[in-house]
Amino acid sequence: MSARSLDGIATAARIRAELGDRIARFTAAAGRPPALGIVLAGDDPASQIYVSSKLRTAGDAGCRAELFRLPADASLDETLAVVARLNADDTFDGILVQSPLPKGMGRDAEQRVFDTVSPAKDVDGFHAQNVGLLVQKRARLVACTPAGVMQLLAREGITLAGKRAVVIGRSDIVGKPMALLLLHEDATVTICHSRTPDVAAIASDADVLVAAVGRPAYVTPAYVKPGATVIDVGINRVDDAALVAGWYPEGHPRRQVFEKKQSLVIGDVHPAVWDVAGAVTPVPGGVGPLTIAMLLANTVTAAEARAGLLATR
Ligand code: GUN
Repeated sequence: MSARSLDGIATAARIRAELGDRIARFTAAAGRPPALGIVLAGDDPASQIYVSSKLRTAGDAGCRAELFRLPADASLDETLAVVARLNADDTFDGILVQSPLPKGMGRDAEQRVFDTVSPAKDVDGFHAQNVGLLVQKRARLVACTPAGVMQLLAREGITLAGKRAVVIGRSDIVGKPMALLLLHEDATVTICHSRTPDVAAIASDADVLVAAVGRPAYVTPAYVKPGATVIDVGINRVDDAALVAGWYPEGHPRRQVFEKKQSLVIGDVHPAVWDVAGAVTPVPGGVGPLTIAMLLANTVTAAEARAGLLATR
């Protein structure tokens, strides 16, 4: 392991600390703290963990954070009704509907929900209006995970102008906004996806490689240029002992974690990449904490903008 570890925990803590003043100023001016409403439908275990972490982080930072739960068999209309209530409630500045929604809500449920969230309260940056503003490099509310990656790169002194950046994954939540943000910093950006032939050949040309595939250890050393910066967006829970044994030698601390918990959270990046890359975000402790810090930042920004505390644009 020779790559530098890009510490998302420390950077996220710094971002949260910097928001302290803005939260205090907003609270004094508005007579209430910035407020975030989170809608969680169903009982996906990973979503429950993410949502509790989001609620705790917002509460600890001095915001008001409330959870609105719906059963797994809730209808899309019921979910849209909760969003409409939060849109109309002036005491909420931000609304987040946790993805994925239960499959029973139908294929286009997420898009319908994201379209319903008021753009001014869209702390996920998923509404078409905010996505359009992002394309034009004038978004105020940007998808949290890509925004967090940009913060990490900037604060770690990793410059992008003139660099080759490759994003593996084309989701609306990560891949597409990530590519736009890298482009706005003057990187030359390529997006690879499930139909791209020979992803390794393209990825191994990248100075900055972002893996947002959702497949454990997908990015092997063959995908990585020596010295490149590798950003691992993947959070994959693995319970197959043989896979874990193939990634980590006997006695490795991660093997011990697996033996204790009988499962392990693995990123999209293979552990052997650390021997090739110049810098890598660990999983856990890399991009994950930044996503939550940027949700807090977006909540504060939405609150300030709604209260007329930001210059109009
Ligand atoms: N599920 C995984 N990541 C996210 C996110 O950034 N926002 C929402 N709403 N759901 C998610």
